[in-house]
Amino acid sequence: MSKEIPNHRSTDVSVGAFTFRDDKALERNEMTDRVRIFDTTLRDGEQSPGFSMNIDEKIRMASQLARLGVDIIEAGFPIASPGDFEAVRRIATEVKGPIIAGLARITEKDIDRAADAVAPAERRRIHTFSSGSDIHLEHMLRISRDENLRRSVKAVVHARSRVDDVEYSAQDTTRSDRDYLVDLYTAVAEAGALTLNIPDTVGYTMPHEYEELIRYIVERVKVPGVIFSVHCHNDLGLAVANSLAAVRAGARQVECTINGIGERAGNCSLEEIAMALRVHSKATGIDTGIVSTEIYNTSRLLTSITGVPVQPNKAIVGDNAFAHESGIHQDGVLKARATYEIMTPESVGRSSHKMVLGKHSGKHALQDRLKAMGFEPSEVQLNTVFENFKLLADKKKEVFDEDLVALMADESESVEVGDDWKLVSYSVLSGSTSAPEATVILVRDSQPPVTGKASGDGPVDAVLKAIRDLTGKTIDIDTYQLKAITGGTDAQGEVAVSARLGGRTLTGQGRSTDIIEASAKAYLALIRRVSANNMTDLVMKSEP
Ligand code: KIV
Ligand code: ZN
Repeated sequence: MSKEIPNHRSTDVSVGAFTFRDDKALERNEMTDRVRIFDTTLRDGEQSPGFSMNIDEKIRMASQLARLGVDIIEAGFPIASPGDFEAVRRIATEVKGPIIAGLARITEKDIDRAADAVAPAERRRIHTFSSGSDIHLEHMLRISRDENLRRSVKAVVHARSRVDDVEYSAQDTTRSDRDYLVDLYTAVAEAGALTLNIPDTVGYTMPHEYEELIRYIVERVKVPGVIFSVHCHNDLGLAVANSLAAVRAGARQVECTINGIGERAGNCSLEEIAMALRVHSKATGIDTGIVSTEIYNTSRLLTSITGVPVQPNKAIVGDNAFAHESGIHQDGVLKARATYEIMTPESVGRSSHKMVLGKHSGKHALQDRLKAMGFEPSEVQLNTVFENFKLLADKKKEVFDEDLVALMADESESVEVGDDWKLVSYSVLSGSTSAPEATVILVRDSQPPVTGKASGDGPVDAVLKAIRDLTGKTIDIDTYQLKAITGGTDAQGEVAVSARLGGRTLTGQGRSTDIIEASAKAYLALIRRVSANNMTDLVMKSEP
């Protein structure tokens, strides 16, 4: 990076062998070169298949993003549906700290809807977008470049009449005419847009080319005070590299998502860009305000809400990201961690001493640990989680942080309002020559328990068939995923079952040390989710 950077600043803090920028100093804006983190997990991420969340889940995610220290939360696209509007409005009401942004096309109707949704926020933003490329203008929007510029300016003026903070994006900039982009961004900045976002919508560009594009625009759009932003998709696996290249060229806002979720191949991953900037911050003088120790919790929260795991070798948050398998590496790390570690697991919130609690631990110890992990359960929630913790500790010798995250996820899922069937017990009779026969007992609200029997192609299939008969709900499952939450043969299994209904993918999850029970719970959670989303009519009825 071109700037002269001093090697050490008084705001640096040391963690083990590593030196990091002090987050508090960043908050106080003591560092000149701060990259703002604009999180779009709840908008670009949530709109991709398999990642839809209900309102309560969005609030939990947004609250965690606030703890993570993101600067802006793009909470949704309010015009898209009443549910999206409500989610943005509730986040704007309940989540304090970050700026809350709502997305809007360049129409008055969209902008008014976004303005109403973000109105309760202490700090609010409207993010309005059009397109920059001829491909988009001709085939999608069917307007000329001039007309696009005129409408974009009008939209920004209108948005500024509703809020002080307006961001403007032209989609597909990496396939657009550069000089047209300069004219377009200059016009919207003069009309009052404070942040100019230059997206690589189709994930087409390469780092050297994107750096040049951003520099070209930064050098020519001479409107004082604007911040240049980037938003990269990962179609060629280059979203993080491209975003870093853009920062070299002067971008000071990066749009990104937790675990890199988003349209198609996803967006720039927040944890990767934030740690790339942090690890190199000493040399570059550029950093973010991300509280890096909250990264792992945030990633886990997203996977537990959506049921979509990250790949084991995913940078920063994957299971193997800090695992040293080869003898030479292990030997080196034991002698000095810095031999093979460029950052500590602790710096991203992953603890190396993992066992936290056991069956003799009390409620206070549980509460303390949950608090340290960023959870603040209510008294009622804590009581339920404590009961479930005791049951789990009876089955498992060691209860790990990951188990606690799963218990908290169970608790918050159980409060979702929907068709509330619960598993009382099940048994399966199976032999090597006969099909397994399951007996399942379920209960719903305060009604008497019901018992059903079915056989199937395996114990899980038999149990799910019995549940389908008892509940009268046959949901076609598209994906069934099983993951061990921790290591060891007594680990809890986490099952996620997903179904595609009415153009949306809904997921139900269940956890237990017994994977058949986890599967049954996941299917019941899916039934609950389908009814909570008023989609029961889309489900095939089976004869009870
Ligand atoms: O990818 C994209 O261009 C977008 C815009 C709405 C910023 O998501
Ligand atoms: Zn996008």
